[in-house]
This record gives sequence, structure tokens and C-alpha cells, in this order.
Amino acid sequence: MRTKILLKEAELPTHWYNVVADMPNPPAPPLGPDGKPIGPDALQAIFPDALIEQEVSRERWIEIPEPVREALDMWRPSPLYRAHRLEQALGTPARIYYKNESVSPAGSHKPNTALAQAWYNRQEGIRRLTTETGAGQWGSSLALVGQMFGIDVRVYMVKVSYEQKPYRRSMMETWGAEVFASPTDQTESGRKVLAEHPDSPGSLGIAISEAVEEAASRDDTNYALGSVLNHVLLHQTVIGQEAKKQLAMVDDYPDEVHAPCGGGSNFGGIAFPFFADKAAGKAVRLVAVEPASCPTLTRGAYAYDFGDSVGLTPLLKMHTLGHDFVPPGIHAGGLRYHGDSPLVSQLHHEGLVDAVAVPQIETFEAGVLFARTEGIIPAPESCHAIASAIRSARACAESGEAKTILFNLSGHGHFDMAAYDRYFKGELQDYAFPEEALKESLAHLPQVAQG
Ligand SMILES: Cc1ncc(COP(=O)(O)O)c(C=O)c1O
Repeated sequence: MRTKILLKEAELPTHWYNVVADMPNPPAPPLGPDGKPIGPDALQAIFPDALIEQEVSRERWIEIPEPVREALDMWRPSPLYRAHRLEQALGTPARIYYKNESVSPAGSHKPNTALAQAWYNRQEGIRRLTTETGAGQWGSSLALVGQMFGIDVRVYMVKVSYEQKPYRRSMMETWGAEVFASPTDQTESGRKVLAEHPDSPGSLGIAISEAVEEAASRDDTNYALGSVLNHVLLHQTVIGQEAKKQLAMVDDYPDEVHAPCGGGSNFGGIAFPFFADKAAGKAVRLVAVEPASCPTLTRGAYAYDFGDSVGLTPLLKMHTLGHDFVPPGIHAGGLRYHGDSPLVSQLHHEGLVDAVAVPQIETFEAGVLFARTEGIIPAPESCHAIASAIRSARACAESGEAKTILFNLSGHGHFDMAAYDRYFKGELQDYAFPEEALKESLAHLPQVAQG
């Protein structure tokens, strides 16, 4: 029985797949503060032109520049695994496969877009980038590629993650980046949050405000985002394209595709190439998996909201918990985002993409079972997809159905062992869903644009 299904370097995709071409309705446009759609020029202060073009493109295929493909082959194509041992432990007739994105130097899928973004910025003369990071996976990815392309990188790291994961900080510094615990007192945005909440644990929304503010105020600096925006999801579609080829090599095709969902980039990356088949009539269930304590798709409003906490970004139509919602300090730091990708949100709103929310302890149970059967210790974010895939595989064990289940192992958890320690000591909690806090923050949605 085959365990690893591998592609050759030459089989790395030559194009990114743009889901917009197959969506039944055009994406809702980003809006300015006046409630009118923004033009590409509104983004020029912080993004290079090539990425702005990709952001608004409707072309189905966008060619991957040769130097980007050449650099991607440091870790791509990534392996697809058949999880025989997990299947056996679950006693399921289901066939479970996972795409192993933990093989990149930073340990997750994030370098797939970091590399492309750094390359386009360098092409347009940018030598300095700012960004945010939650779990530290995105910040390390940008630090890695900044080093490769001669770009200085400054990372605003969500304070709770900065404290939970000191070695992610060391990793970024090893690759030459500067790292700050956000909220900081270095930006107007950070100072504003600290004045109201001196003990703020930080959030991705706050860190984004700080990074965007710095980039917008300096001509020599651009901003790079690790998720949410269309061009970021686009760059991640190498994952799903490879997975499709790999499954075809063993004559299989998924009934279900599960991926953790924070800002939507690894979900979009693995799921969108299968969405192309779904749009053409094929039955495939695409499942975005989020934490029960930050349930953006399953409990959030579908509305225009800011991408950051302070309100510096354009308004994006997305599932949101409200831009000033600060989620509990769960260990899946990469899933603590108040919003979601507008593309994923719209597809979910239109009933084309499913979402489930899983409580923290169930995700660690799943991660430990996975580590003890398949060997790889998963990132807490990835544990969400594993938990959801396990739910399905257990349902198959009951019904006798032999489904094909694919999930994205978005990263490894080697820098998350403190979280595993706390799980083993019984110190982790399933946070009660903060209904009151949610109502309060949804009351602050920008009214101007909701029509
Ligand atoms: C390992 C891992 N998986 C998943 C995510 C979720 O992000 P996204 O939904 O953008 O892929 C993150 C974000 O930091 C991550 O580090």
C-alpha cells in the first residue's frame, strides 16, 4: 500500500488558479470610507502594482514567474500522504489523505505566498516590508524570503503568541527580521489600543493596523499580508493543484476536503482547485474548519468590515465577528482573526463552501492521535482540520461508507510544544462562546457601507 505520493520538481504547477473565474457571482468590491468601491490606486501606498493587478484579476490562470517557481522548488511539490495508520486506529473504511505543507523551511504553507510577494516587491524596488503575525508561521515565512531577496522585514507579532512562542521570535530573528510584541507603543494604532486596554493580549487585527500604518507612512516600505486577500489565496492554489495530480496517481478523488480556516489562505489554497470541478458539476464537499471560540464563518455576520482593528484598511465584505472583537487566547494563534477571506466568505454565504467550528480540546485530542499514528506533530491550527476529518472518518465507521477524505496539514507544531504540555496537564479550556462580546463588537460594524 502506498503511503507517500510524490510529484517530480518539473510537475510543480506553472500557473496559479484564480477561483474568481468560476464563481457564480463577481466578488463584492472593497469599499472606501465613503462607501464607494475603491480603485487600485488606493492600494498603491502599500502594495506593488503586480499584486494589485492579481487582487482584481478575473483571469482563470495566472502564470507563476520562473524565478518564483525555481525558488518554490526548495520545498515543493509537497508530499501527499495516505494516513493508513490513522485510518486503522479509527477503524474506518474511509480513505484519508493529507497534503503535508509542514515541509517548508518555516514549517507551514505560508512561504508559498511570502515568496511570491517578496519577489514582486523586489521587482518594483522595495527593500523593506512590514507585516503582522499570529502564530508566528507567517512572520517566519516572510523573514525567510526577505533574507532570500534582500528585503528588510519588520514583524508585529500578536502579544499572546509572542509570549507563548518565544522560539518563533528567535526563528524570525535568525532570518534577520525585527520582531515586536503588538500592541506596541511605536505606532499611533498600538498606542490607541494600549491607552484603552493596557493589558491587551493583542489580536491579528491590531497587529495588521500597526504594520499597515508603518508601511503607509513610509515611501520605502510596503506591507505584506499573510492571508485574507485574493492574491494571497491565489498563490496558495499550488497546494490543491498538486493534491489533485497526486490523487489521480492513485486513482482517487476526494468526497471531502478539510482545511483549517483563519484568514482562509490554506483553505482556499487546497480547496479552490477542487471548486473548479465543483463549479463544473462534480460533487465535492469543501469544509473550512475554525475554532469554536473564534467562529467567523459559522457565527459571524456577512457584512462590510475593516480588515484591521483600528480601521485603516478598506472595507471588505466578509464574515466577521467585528473588527474590535478580541478572541480568547487559544493556542491556534493563526486562527484568531475577526474576519475571513472575502472570496471564502462569499462562497460560504452562497452555500458553496461548508464551515464547521471545533472546540480547542477536541483539536488537541485529534492532534495527539495524529502524532501517535502518523508521526508528525501538527500545528494547533492544523489540528482543526484533523479533528474535522476524524469526525467524518468516524461517521464513515458507523455508516460503513468508504469516503475519500483529504485534509491540509498546514504546518507542524514544533514550536507549539508549550501548548501540547498544557493540554497534557489538563490546563487547556474550551472557551465559552462570548456571545455578549460578539453582540457588542457587531454593533460597531461600519454602518455607511452595509447597503
Ligand atoms: C499552520 C497554520 N495553519 C493555518 C493557518 C491559518 O491561516 P490561513 O487561514 O490564512 O491559512 C495559519 C496561520 O497562521 C497557520 O500558521
